[in-house]
Amino acid sequence: MPNSEISSLPVDEKYFDDSSSNYRAVHDSSLKDSEQFWANIAKELSWSREWDEVLEWKPPFAKWFTGGKINASFNCLDRHMDSEQKDKDAYIWEGENGDKRTITYAQLYEEVNHFASALLNLGVKKGDKIAFYMPMVPEFPVAILAATRIGATFTVVFSGFSAVALADRINDSQAKLVITSDGGFRRGKILKLKEIVDDALTKTSTVTNVIVLKRAGIEINMEENRDIWWDDAIKDTDDFVEPEQLESDHPLYILYTSGTTGKPKGVLHGTGGYLTYVYATTKWVFDIKKDDVYWCPADIGWVTGHSYFIFGPLLHGATSIMYEGAPDYPNPERLWEMIDRYNVTIFYFTPTGIRALMKHGNELPQKHDLSSLRLLGTVGEPINPAAWRWYYDVIGNKKCPIVDTWWQTETGGIMLSASPNLGLVSLKPGSATFPLPGIEADIVDEKGNSVGLGEKGFIVIKRPWPGMFMTLYNDSERYKQVYWEKFPGCYYPGDYAIRDHDGYFWLLGRADEVLNVAGHRLGTIEIEDAMVEHPAVAEAAVAGKPDEIKGESIVVFAILKKGYEPSEELRTDLFNHVRKVLGPVATPEEIHFVNMVPKTRSGKIMRRVVKAVASGTDIGDITTLEDGASVDEIKKTIDEFRQSVKS
Ligand code: PRX
Repeated sequence: MPNSEISSLPVDEKYFDDSSSNYRAVHDSSLKDSEQFWANIAKELSWSREWDEVLEWKPPFAKWFTGGKINASFNCLDRHMDSEQKDKDAYIWEGENGDKRTITYAQLYEEVNHFASALLNLGVKKGDKIAFYMPMVPEFPVAILAATRIGATFTVVFSGFSAVALADRINDSQAKLVITSDGGFRRGKILKLKEIVDDALTKTSTVTNVIVLKRAGIEINMEENRDIWWDDAIKDTDDFVEPEQLESDHPLYILYTSGTTGKPKGVLHGTGGYLTYVYATTKWVFDIKKDDVYWCPADIGWVTGHSYFIFGPLLHGATSIMYEGAPDYPNPERLWEMIDRYNVTIFYFTPTGIRALMKHGNELPQKHDLSSLRLLGTVGEPINPAAWRWYYDVIGNKKCPIVDTWWQTETGGIMLSASPNLGLVSLKPGSATFPLPGIEADIVDEKGNSVGLGEKGFIVIKRPWPGMFMTLYNDSERYKQVYWEKFPGCYYPGDYAIRDHDGYFWLLGRADEVLNVAGHRLGTIEIEDAMVEHPAVAEAAVAGKPDEIKGESIVVFAILKKGYEPSEELRTDLFNHVRKVLGPVATPEEIHFVNMVPKTRSGKIMRRVVKAVASGTDIGDITTLEDGASVDEIKKTIDEFRQSVKS
């Protein structure tokens, strides 16, 4: 296992003194009797029936708090109605165009009840699936909470995804309702969301209704008997809808994420375990206090938006900022201006976002008073030390700890991070520090043996935790095979990691054929499939190359079909084609026309070679690369490939 990264880890740079941290003691005791540990936390939520068993573990399937009954919307809203949270702002919203709105917990409760009543009027029942394709407006969390109130399972499709991606997800989840808006604002332009929904619905057959929120005020097509305006749907609805008392393992949501095949994986989360985990981790990591103003700008389309924009903060009765638009619109000081305007105290952002804003220099953030900030966070990808230091020095003014949180769609919540609530451990720029309480993590080699400090390996989780996904929707075989077969008995997240001489964990990126572009997961095969759907493309190989801002960017090598010649027009057409099929998040950085792509004898693309050529780095040891081919053959193949990239 190459471990060249270790020498570049700034392991000796430490921030904050951890001599009084409770973290280690809590972590140790959490693992001694983890079921009791989790049960004590679950008791801080409201259950209408207590569980019979904390954990039913039939590897690799875990059921948490079996026999217990709980409702997410009740825990996020009703619970606060008898407390001082009632009149506190749940959301302070700002539209990209400067529109502003605040919503107290009492108002949110009211809106959620009316919308839940509207859903019932449309015949939506417990267990039905609702797909969301929405801009970041307050009605988005309203409708999600309403869905959870009646026990409907929701699936959010990021509004940057294409009609094809939306249709695939509707078909896989069998959604019967879509909730969208006429349009949304992004960088001053209007995203025509309803038009995309209309297009997607030509490829689906399960949807009986579409609820449309008026946001952009544009002309749209409304199909009779199918499409209903939001305002009409909530007319004459009830003030109160009894929250469904749901089994703890009732499916709360399905969130699709990329894997190593062309078909996205439907990550299915339950209710009681998930809420318990998100509640606990929000407390440990963000340590939200009564007067905090918390801001996680993640779109609800990603798991971060689910766990730490919607459920975590609401369970704690926190005040959150919600922003509709792009972080650099109309200029790259928008976020700093908003932190100043709303006195944000906790800010949870992405390394890509930090790097993108950092390139504009210190002047823009320094124009604003950021002194309200007390805690900073990052998520989605490894943060390079330079970006970490800038975030720490310039945004946090050298006084705010940075919690680097490592987790995944599948894990439901943060797995590794420093925990200010338990007493901060000293921080190192670029390290997610340690596993949270209840999480037993290790780093292992190919054979599943623990590696020593300083040796790179695969991170694994050695026991179930309440936030873990229940399965892949409609595909339990794939669930078993992808996550549990590589290291039997352990959850395999698919990331490389290393521990330094102090035992700190450093996450080193994906170990599988998944790219992380600006914190978004994209399967290389998904992009290859999209490419070959174009009539001119016979074959394609995709790899990531390091990108200063996005962490990784997409490079495509395409072999054209007979009769097609490389040209700039075709290249542009292919860029547009990928955007259309997968959405703008998957736009390649480079498309190269080649005569061949290096393959093993069994026909598999030599990923390491393609990646090295894309990044212009050394291919390294090729003796183990292929199955059966000689090293000479591979070298020849690589040379030919390189040659054809040049030409
Ligand atoms: O490779 C890891 C990276 O993002 C992957 C999970 O992506 P997704 O399911 O889309 O969830 C993103 C938001 C939780 C992981 O397998 N990743 C996430 N956070 C970090 C990270 N890599 C390094 N450091 C992190 N803090």
